[in-house]
Amino acid sequence: MIIAIDGPAASGKGTLGKRLAAHYHFRHLDTGVIYRAVAKALLDAGADPADEERAIAAALELDPEKFGHPLLKTRPIGEAASVVSTFPKVREALLTFQRQFASEPPGAVLDGRDIGTVICPHADVKIFVEADPVVRARRRTLEARARGEEADEAVVLADILKRDERDRNRPVAPLKAAADAHVLDNSHLDIEAGLKAAIAIVEAARLRPDRA
Ligand code: DC
Repeated sequence: MIIAIDGPAASGKGTLGKRLAAHYHFRHLDTGVIYRAVAKALLDAGADPADEERAIAAALELDPEKFGHPLLKTRPIGEAASVVSTFPKVREALLTFQRQFASEPPGAVLDGRDIGTVICPHADVKIFVEADPVVRARRRTLEARARGEEADEAVVLADILKRDERDRNRPVAPLKAAADAHVLDNSHLDIEAGLKAAIAIVEAARLRPDRA
C-alpha cells in the first residue's frame, strides 16, 4: 500500500507521515529532505541555489546517507530547497529514487508537495494536509526554539508565505491537492487528533470495493 501525503510548508505532514508509517509498520520518506540535501550540498560548496547547472549536478550526485543531517531542517536550507526544487531537471533526477522507495514492500508513506500528483499518481490513499499559515508559523517557531535556534514568529510567517507562493506557482509539479486527495485541515487538531483523522481516511480506503 502507498500513502501519499502532500501539503504546504510546516503543515504537519512530516509528523503525520512518520506517525502513520509507524502505525501501519510501513516505511516513511520525507521527500522534503531530498530537496533540502541538494540545497545543502550547494550552500556547502558556496554555490547559489539558483544556479541551475550546479543544482542538477548536486541532485545527480545525491547521497541518501546524508538525509539525516540535523542542519537540513533549518530555515535557510528550507528556503534554498524551495529554489532548487523549481528546476525540472532537479526533480527528474530525484524521481526514480522516490518511486523505488514507494514500491518496496510492505508499504510506504511518502510526504511532500507532488507525491499524489506526480511521484505516485496511483497511490492507494492521498491526503492533502492544510493548516492556517499563522498556526503553521507558530508551530515552526516553537520547533526551531526547541532545537535551540532563535526564531521570530513574524519572520517565520513571512518565510512560509513566500515558500507557499513559490511552491504553488512553479510550472513543474506545483503544490496542489490531487483530484482524488482527501483534504485534512489540521489547524485545530493536535498530533494525535490529526493521526486519528488520517487513520480513518486510510481505513475507509482499505474498505473500498475496488481494493477487494
Ligand atoms: O517539506 P519541506 O519544507 O521539507 O520542503 C522543502 C522544499 O522542498 C519545499 O519548499 C519545496 C521542495 N519540495 C518539493 O518541491 N517537492 C517535494 N515533494 C518536497 C519538497
